[in-house]
Amino acid sequence: MEEKELLYEGKAKKVFRTEDPEILIVDYKDDATAFNGLKKGTIKGKGAINNRMTNYLMKLLEEKGVPTHLVEEIDDRKTAVKKVQIVPLEVIIRNKAAGSFSKRLGIPEGTELKCSTLEFSYKDDDLGDPLINSYMARAIGAATQEDIDTITEYAFKVNEVLKEFFKEIGIELIDFKLEFGKTTDGTIVLADEISPDTCRYWDIKTGAHLDKDTFRRDLGNPEGAYQEVFARMGFDAE
Ligand code: TMP
Ligand code: ASP
Repeated sequence: MEEKELLYEGKAKKVFRTEDPEILIVDYKDDATAFNGLKKGTIKGKGAINNRMTNYLMKLLEEKGVPTHLVEEIDDRKTAVKKVQIVPLEVIIRNKAAGSFSKRLGIPEGTELKCSTLEFSYKDDDLGDPLINSYMARAIGAATQEDIDTITEYAFKVNEVLKEFFKEIGIELIDFKLEFGKTTDGTIVLADEISPDTCRYWDIKTGAHLDKDTFRRDLGNPEGAYQEVFARMGFDAE
């Protein structure tokens, strides 16, 4: 599978067309941004780590019954994926209070929640990805009720699979963000990535942040955090 012209360049990935109109190639970058692009930097090795971790987790999720956009890994940084139309919602699941949830509701980070929770943000950088609910998502045509039901079911299933997987390697899954897309035939599949850019991982023993909060909050060594999760997943860290 060979990449043709660049279709789109985002903050962390480039997307290329291929000779097959139904397949795109995603190329993961080392660039890191936070606060809607206000903070910019580089996390060396991140692109390869996020690419390989995402593919590993998407394969695991496929086995557990969650369809994904994954076609095949091409090399360290590049993966062929199904072309989808992204549902313009960021789907966030939380197991413990942290980040914007803690800020918005005045609940200290690390507080146990009585149940896992799901929230939607409307994907629009100019608006800063505002929080919306399912009625608003339907009202603006971002998704149908059927889409929302499917996405909700898959997102909680992803949570169960990932929580268990990360617990086994000494990591608590605090929260994460998913994106879903629709293939040409209208099937909803998990898209985008599952990586330390898009999840909060806390070391079960020490509580250390093993994710992008190390970069967002200047907590020292983002490269080390990404490599630590990568190594615990059984990959050879460079
Ligand atoms: P939040 O607490 O800042 O809302 O973040 C919740 C989760 O979503 C966290 O695991 C980080 C992830 N996330 C993204 O993947 N992209 C984003 O742009 C933001 C703000 C958060
Ligand atoms: N990726 C997002 C951005 O630049 C934010 C984040 O991950 O915190 O804006």
